[in-house]
Amino acid sequence: MSPLCTATTTPPGETVGPLVRGLAVLRELAAADGRRSLSDLVRATGLARSTVDRVAGTLAHSGYVRVEGRDAVLAPRLMELGNAYLSSCRLPDLLGPAADGLADGLDESVSIAVPDPDGVRFVHQAPRRRAMSLTFRIGDLLPAERCAPGALFATGWSESEWEHWRHRRTPDARFRALPHGDGEGAESFAPRTAAARERGWSVDDQLIEPGLIAIAMPVRDATGRQVCAISVVSHTSRHSVRSLRERALPRLRETVAAAQDILAAPAPQDAPRPEALPPALSAPAPKQEAGVRFVESLARGLAVLTAFGAGRAQLPLTAVAEATGLARATARRALLTLRHLGYVAQEDTLFRLTPRVLELGFAHLSGLTLPEIARPHLVELVERVHDSASMAVLTGDEIQYVARVPTVRVMSVDITPGTRFPAYATSLGRVLLAGLPGEERAARLAGKELRPLTRHTVTSADRLAGLLDRIGHAGYALVDEELEEGLRSLAVPVRDRKGHVVAALNVSMHASRRTAENARRELLPALRETAARVEADLHAAGRYARIRTV
Ligand code: PHB
Repeated sequence: MSPLCTATTTPPGETVGPLVRGLAVLRELAAADGRRSLSDLVRATGLARSTVDRVAGTLAHSGYVRVEGRDAVLAPRLMELGNAYLSSCRLPDLLGPAADGLADGLDESVSIAVPDPDGVRFVHQAPRRRAMSLTFRIGDLLPAERCAPGALFATGWSESEWEHWRHRRTPDARFRALPHGDGEGAESFAPRTAAARERGWSVDDQLIEPGLIAIAMPVRDATGRQVCAISVVSHTSRHSVRSLRERALPRLRETVAAAQDILAAPAPQDAPRPEALPPALSAPAPKQEAGVRFVESLARGLAVLTAFGAGRAQLPLTAVAEATGLARATARRALLTLRHLGYVAQEDTLFRLTPRVLELGFAHLSGLTLPEIARPHLVELVERVHDSASMAVLTGDEIQYVARVPTVRVMSVDITPGTRFPAYATSLGRVLLAGLPGEERAARLAGKELRPLTRHTVTSADRLAGLLDRIGHAGYALVDEELEEGLRSLAVPVRDRKGHVVAALNVSMHASRRTAENARRELLPALRETAARVEADLHAAGRYARIRTV
């Protein structure tokens, strides 16, 4: 089957209604950039209010959505679904490093995109941050006629795929936000496709955005099928189309040749082991969640998506049933529903995920920063412990606050995101310093004067070094009145997927509120749980997207 034709007709009796409705709610949330009131969702989906409540409750139970007051908000854990597609298609893992190398060599943005029934979808981005340029996010969809990869993919279209494209060219809600609106570039699409076929590369001369130019080449698998396209993206302030072509095309050709070799290489004997599978859903599901009935068939249907992954790209029904702990008949109905909606494709007896899975909030969530990911967890922590909580990162030998949820003010200075303090005298700073490799820690503190900020501040470099070693082992720092008299704080690290400390969380309080020992006993477990939740979100979000810490 052509990669562009994935949605197929399934007899209505076979589709799982709650799964269809749950996916509709997720799509509406994604289209609204991640947040929408429940009553808006009722209007947008045409579903009954009670249905939207049940769907939102179920998605919240799965950790895919948060319900904040009247709003439903997409949660980073939802990226598990897109991660399942990206790891099963292997393109970012296999070709990402080559794309990154090309971006470094040319000092221009480079992206990898795949064909999607609705257009062109990005699966990897190696952006160069520049004032003038807009870059798309992983999961973003562009109309085929409005970007360089589209003309390449269209060279392989059948007449029915052209028909599908012409039909799609009625206004589409997903593209309305694009500069120029929907409908640009359509007349020139067929000739640009013909030119792309002849030359083997294609150009975007400001089709999507004034000033934005791109050149793209297809990457083919061993059978000659175009699996993706690599684009070099620049701006008219730096290049004309001609100068971009002259500069980028030779290296782009080399990168594509290397990419094709990588794809043609036989999969290594020790192919990636199946990833941790989702918890089997065979255990009885909670029927009552926050007063809302839990819709088991929705949760099960979404679990089917996460059965796929690295080394599990194409699965027979039996494997999906086994991985999810679902009965064969249940897994089959979920797969047929997902196939009907275009999230799963089937060849013979094997099922695989399609790039459309990325439509489920991936682009929006991949743009979240670490403070944005952490904030809801800090709010929960503050509700639990009734003291202020903060997140900070290390810049030089200072900490910089990136998120703060206050209760009452206990410091004489007002701390807002952006506030800096010397790292050596704060719990956040000590955790961050303790997380550095020994040499880097020494370099940051070398020659640093440890000024006494209160009469308790540790000012001896040797004593500080000993404290940092102990903090590294213990996994937390308690600092008593060293930054300001009367201020006590307790901090823990936040680690990325590789185990590097990228931020720290703390709770701070007036020293009279708890003894140091009570602070440790009462707050450390809650703080550690919060850090674990932030890390779980960060790890899901950071699997393929680059999550900024500030
Ligand atoms: C991008 O990666 O942002 C990109 C790629 C190709 C285009 C336009 C934008 O034609």
